[in-house]
Amino acid sequence: MIGQRIPIKTRREVETMRESGRHVAEILLVLREAAKPGVTTGELDRIAHKEIEKRGLESSFLGYDPGGLPPYPAVVCVSVNDEIVHGIPGSRVLQDGDLLSIDFGIHQEGFHGDSACTIAVGEVSEEARELMETTHEALYKGIEQMVPGKRLSDIGHAVQACAESAGYGVVRQFVGHGIGRLMHEPPQIPNYGRPGRGPRLVPGMVLAIEPMVNAGSEGVRMLEDEWTAVTADGELSAHFEHTVLITDEGPEVLTRVEGSH
Ligand code: MF3
Ligand code: CO
Repeated sequence: MIGQRIPIKTRREVETMRESGRHVAEILLVLREAAKPGVTTGELDRIAHKEIEKRGLESSFLGYDPGGLPPYPAVVCVSVNDEIVHGIPGSRVLQDGDLLSIDFGIHQEGFHGDSACTIAVGEVSEEARELMETTHEALYKGIEQMVPGKRLSDIGHAVQACAESAGYGVVRQFVGHGIGRLMHEPPQIPNYGRPGRGPRLVPGMVLAIEPMVNAGSEGVRMLEDEWTAVTADGELSAHFEHTVLITDEGPEVLTRVEGSH
């Protein structure tokens, strides 16, 4: 991806992306509300599917083929406890105390929105709560850097500094990304690195920032389904993501409505 052009969205395109982002935010709120003890992860997928149909949207995830993997089989990713990202919904029943990450994306009129949050199912441990809070804070430390004139690596540096100062491991194997006509556009956005590197940030860029933070080490192991990434040491992991537009006035979070993460 390095060296590839980062698309700059026109005002019209930005308008469409605001709409896509709003749908993602609203549907994530519905899913959060539904994620209670006793509910299966497959039920969350069905709820998301219904919302997509009701609103005339297209899933960004269903059938997604990054190359060399089976196409992704659902419209949401649900990653529980030691699962980091890309957990596949199914018959798993959510339990009181589970740490649940929900990742969701759609496109409409040719433009994608992508967002994720980690929530407590019922009552979670203090350890889980702290991990969740720090990962959320790390996302916003990254977003704060999204000001014209800053450089791309300033984002990941800020995310890493926040997560590591709390003693957590920042996942290296998955990264944030540009987003627009494709869910994954240039550039790749690691959640770590030295500041002051890479392209300068320019108004009209839209980037999905998505820190994945492990309570223990940053190591990742893949499950046999070829999608689900879990922590190598079995410790908890959290994930937050927003689709963010860079403007002259600073960052505009497109996947946030009242009540969102
Ligand atoms: N937020 C994730 C990402 O940007 C969602 C991808 S899930 C997939 O990679 F199923 F579509 F791969
Ligand atoms: Co993403």
